[in-house]
Amino acid sequence: MGPEVIAKLASRIDSERARREPPAGFPELPDIPPGRYTNRDFLVLEGEHLWHKAWLYAAHVDELPDTGSYKLWQRNGSPIVILRDQDDAVRAFYNICRHRGGPLVTEDSGKLEGGLVCNYHGWTYDLGGKLVNLRDRRDFIGLDTSCRNLVPVRCERLGNWIFVSEDPDAPPLAEYLGPVHDYFTSLPLDSLRLVSQETFEVNCNVKLLLEGFLEVYHLKSVHGGTVDRFLDYRGTTITLFPQGHSLMLSPNRRPDWEDPGTRGLPEMPGTTDFDRQNSPSFNIFPNLVTPLAPAGLPFNMVWPRTADTAILEVTWFAPDDPADRNEDVWTTRRSNYNRILGEDLPLVEKIQVAMNSPGARGVPLSYQERRIYHWHAELDRQIGAQRIPDALRVAPVLDDWTENSWT
Ligand code: FES
Ligand SMILES: [Fe+2]
Repeated sequence: MGPEVIAKLASRIDSERARREPPAGFPELPDIPPGRYTNRDFLVLEGEHLWHKAWLYAAHVDELPDTGSYKLWQRNGSPIVILRDQDDAVRAFYNICRHRGGPLVTEDSGKLEGGLVCNYHGWTYDLGGKLVNLRDRRDFIGLDTSCRNLVPVRCERLGNWIFVSEDPDAPPLAEYLGPVHDYFTSLPLDSLRLVSQETFEVNCNVKLLLEGFLEVYHLKSVHGGTVDRFLDYRGTTITLFPQGHSLMLSPNRRPDWEDPGTRGLPEMPGTTDFDRQNSPSFNIFPNLVTPLAPAGLPFNMVWPRTADTAILEVTWFAPDDPADRNEDVWTTRRSNYNRILGEDLPLVEKIQVAMNSPGARGVPLSYQERRIYHWHAELDRQIGAQRIPDALRVAPVLDDWTENSWT
């Protein structure tokens, strides 16, 4: 972040602390209909128009150390194999043989020697997805092998992070991320190593799970003994970006506060006092929330399963050499973080039960919770408002409050 942006954010923190009401002209936010958390048809629309089109984090290059290293990634429902090819480029394909759909890889990760061999009848593809060999070729009449290569999946890197999109027409990742891309590419991303991955099954709709990460209004009630002790939620400033992305920057209560859980861990090169004194948390639309800290960051990713079950995946990255890692510090850091999650997760499961009941009513959101509204409005934009029943729609009332750049 340049000095201009830092000055702008610092002045916004001051205004947030001083304000007595939302800024002039901020609109009343229409209620979020509870059916958006329970309706099966709505879930189908989300799958088709959101999840199978968005750019989604899938892997870190540390998971693909050598030529032929692969990861089988199925978090989004489709079987996708991500691999490192002979030119060191990362590629992704559907893990679906072009003969009768057999799987090419069956383990979650591994290393391919030579190419991808189907487990059913042995059709063989090179690391670029090209069909290079098939058994008993003479028995296939009229088969044009050049049309039977593996189906590629869009795959791009942001630093060491690998994102995929199942939409062949998706914009490039940089364009999709917009100002968020500018921010992340200003960080020393190549210094970030993969630390750990963990998943939690949660009995709630994926959106309820996500929303807990999008506001700090709940800190006093839910995290009174943890996060609320060091973050000043009333100084929080929010920036809404195009395409559903957003930033929530919360200042520490005391500028000299130091996270005891990160003592002894290296910081990202170029860390400034502003980075140490404030916690920026990005939502990369749709499903990734990352609160950044100089000693590393988790990617909190939510994934839908059914209308009322979801997965929370927490993947940690840090400017930390895995070969020289202080495991005790990391064990403590992760368990502190999981303790905070343990304060949130039981609550959202109860809210899901509530949303499924006839007692559920529309959800009013405050100025502080506007990221949630912004997210829902983007979802409707992706689905296409005309496809959504009137009773489940969210009107795009925050477009004028969205910022296209940092300055
Ligand atoms: S399904 Fe792959 S070779 Fe037959
Ligand atoms: Fe929380």
